[in-house]
Amino acid sequence: MKDNSAQIDEIRSLMGSGRLAYVRSFGCQLNVSDGEKIKGLLMQMGFGFTDDEHKADIIILNTCAVRESAEDRVFGIVGSMKKLKEQKPSLIIGVAGCMTAQSHIAEKIKRSYPQVDIVLGTSALSALPGLLLDVLHGRGFSADISEYDDFSQAAVQVRESSFKASVPIMFGCNNFCTYCIVPYVRGRERSRRPEDIISEVRQLAADGYKEIMLLGQNVNSYGNDFGDGEGISFPELIRRINDIEGDFIIRFMSSHPKDASRELIDAIFDCEKAAKHLHLPVQSGSSEVLRRMNRRYTAERYMETVDYIRSRDPDFSLTTDIIVGFPNETEEEFGETLDMIKKVKYDNIYSFIYSKRSGTRAAGFEDAVSDEEKSRRMRRLLEVQREISTEHYKRFVGRTLRVLADGVSRKRPGYLTGKSNEAIIVEFPGNEELIGSFAGVRVTGSMNWAVTGEII
Ligand code: SAH
Ligand code: SF4
Ligand code: F3S
Repeated sequence: MKDNSAQIDEIRSLMGSGRLAYVRSFGCQLNVSDGEKIKGLLMQMGFGFTDDEHKADIIILNTCAVRESAEDRVFGIVGSMKKLKEQKPSLIIGVAGCMTAQSHIAEKIKRSYPQVDIVLGTSALSALPGLLLDVLHGRGFSADISEYDDFSQAAVQVRESSFKASVPIMFGCNNFCTYCIVPYVRGRERSRRPEDIISEVRQLAADGYKEIMLLGQNVNSYGNDFGDGEGISFPELIRRINDIEGDFIIRFMSSHPKDASRELIDAIFDCEKAAKHLHLPVQSGSSEVLRRMNRRYTAERYMETVDYIRSRDPDFSLTTDIIVGFPNETEEEFGETLDMIKKVKYDNIYSFIYSKRSGTRAAGFEDAVSDEEKSRRMRRLLEVQREISTEHYKRFVGRTLRVLADGVSRKRPGYLTGKSNEAIIVEFPGNEELIGSFAGVRVTGSMNWAVTGEII
């Protein structure tokens, strides 16, 4: 960890008060959580925050590398910021996040985007004050993508919500699914110490947070990197967090199906604070595609896990991620994915067209499937899922759900939206003062993306 307190003080005195920062995160919840830590550092340096990049004195783009579209978006935005910089030469522009960990991207930024002053790696957040000082002292472009942050300790954060908090429990990934860039940009698995996680959650609960989202690329392998007898498993961590005093719900993601054990499922059912929902990314319903993806489970093994969950609660809510058009996916293999979603009856799926990531194994796989065909499969998948959720959401009608109200409905004036314990979106008439608290909502109607109801 960099001791940056002297640098922070120097920036405070150099920059004075009233300076504004614009921080935008593009990736997963872990990336958003890093964005909150970057904001924490900027706050310590005396910055306020704005959502308008035109008003900003410093802009940090916290990037994602998981799909090409995410990277293209960032390059588009960085390109358009050239103008902002011409209008305001003192503007400082930084690029952070997973894109910076790919050397060809870091070089491209340096070579083609002179408006960028700072490049900040995902394990070097504490270097930000030093990099900023370099720029303020006129030393030019400044980059640090080393790995030295103490990842276990809680950092100062400016959280996006006052009632929902993300708590990373581990960083990195060891799985090397053949399509995925994450292990290359996030490094190997590192678990935070249980006592650091528990004291952070205890503080959040005391501060009135109502949803605690535990984060990791595969939370099921939490603790595997501790020495023998030193660590605890993820199910045990859930149980200990469940024992923390306070009225909050525990969620987590993502859970790799190869490691989704009975102990995990039993912990979900035993712990009253654990959400009765599991995000279990299947990626494909074809065992052959799963083998080419290096997912290390078969469709049959995945179904055994689902069957165990549903034997304990037939209505249990499951969601998933699916990749459409993996290299050389046949029509038949795609059909197996459709069969899978019909069998499992997910409440929601997050589906992505395969995106080739240079450096991954699948980037070298032959792919004869056309882009048009991939788009057609995607439309078909979404169509089938729409029918499933329309039908499946009806099971909630007449039931009372415990809902955390989290905002006003954009479509219906006078309505609030919230998320139920089962991770279903619920819309109901209610006063804005309820936002950030739990309500019991009796469900009166259902759609394919949400249910509606009334507070009881
Ligand atoms: N660690 C999580 C996944 C994080 S990435 C897990 O294993 O479940 C989130 C999702 O992005 C993945 O589940 C996958 O569906 C999708 N994804 C990852 N790499 C991709 C790629 N190259 N092309 C398309 N989708 C991809
Ligand atoms: Fe990527 Fe697989 Fe790791 Fe998830 S488990 S982050 S998909 S390599
Ligand atoms: Fe993207 Fe990095 Fe998350 S690649 S999905 S922001 S870990």
